[in-house]
Amino acid sequence: MPNKPLIVANWKMELSHKAALEVTRSLKSLAQHTKLGAEVVICPSYPSLEAVGKLLGESNQWQVGVQNIHWEERGAVTGQVSILQIQHLARWSIVGHSEQRALTGETEEEIQKKVALCLKHGLAPIVCLGEDEQERADDQTVARITYQVKKLLAGIDRSALSKVVIAYEPIWAIGTGDTPEPSEVASIMLLIRKIVTERFEEEAARRLRTLYGGSVTATGAKELAAEPGVDGFLVGGASIHPLEFLKIIENFTTHYVS
Ligand code: PGA
Repeated sequence: MPNKPLIVANWKMELSHKAALEVTRSLKSLAQHTKLGAEVVICPSYPSLEAVGKLLGESNQWQVGVQNIHWEERGAVTGQVSILQIQHLARWSIVGHSEQRALTGETEEEIQKKVALCLKHGLAPIVCLGEDEQERADDQTVARITYQVKKLLAGIDRSALSKVVIAYEPIWAIGTGDTPEPSEVASIMLLIRKIVTERFEEEAARRLRTLYGGSVTATGAKELAAEPGVDGFLVGGASIHPLEFLKIIENFTTHYVS
């Protein structure tokens, strides 16, 4: 059985609260008569979480996630948000997004702690990893991904893995309009599954959902969906445009092969 497709919208800090509600309403009404064929997770900024969740309604089709959590449950950490403050509002959390890593110097150890917190409190972590432009130029992509996946797997057991999603997001592709060849994405998905097989076994690797993220568009979605091992997308820029986002979902689900 193929994995259930998963499409995640990362709205970043792009929308005002009012605009977030407008986009949500528009998404819901445009999708009203469509069978989406994928789980869709919307990740707005914290202040819009509750309202967006209410507009989307409780279903397995539409879910809500956060873009980040702090790696501690509580403490004197001005300006940060703990999982204890949002766990009643979200079912997912993006973890280790490259923009967050760049902003805070987040380490793989802190990412491990965030994943552990998500699993402890019932949120499914969407763990982002990927090489930067220099690493790609230096032919270090495989080394980078291997390091990051091994670090992630070191902190979890086999049953926890079933709740984790990995998003391969080459940093140079985020928000730039540049994308890797679909076959390159497929080979990274294969690499991730090989590392998971070595750590656990093949079935765990097969069931793991792996997403691609970085300048995803409706056009690119078709080709990527047709590559083995791509179970969905983490979509940034295009996800705040309801028509384009729904087209991405549709194009993905109609071409999905894995
Ligand atoms: P992008 O962002 O689709 O705008 O490249 C993806 C992401 O940052 O998750």
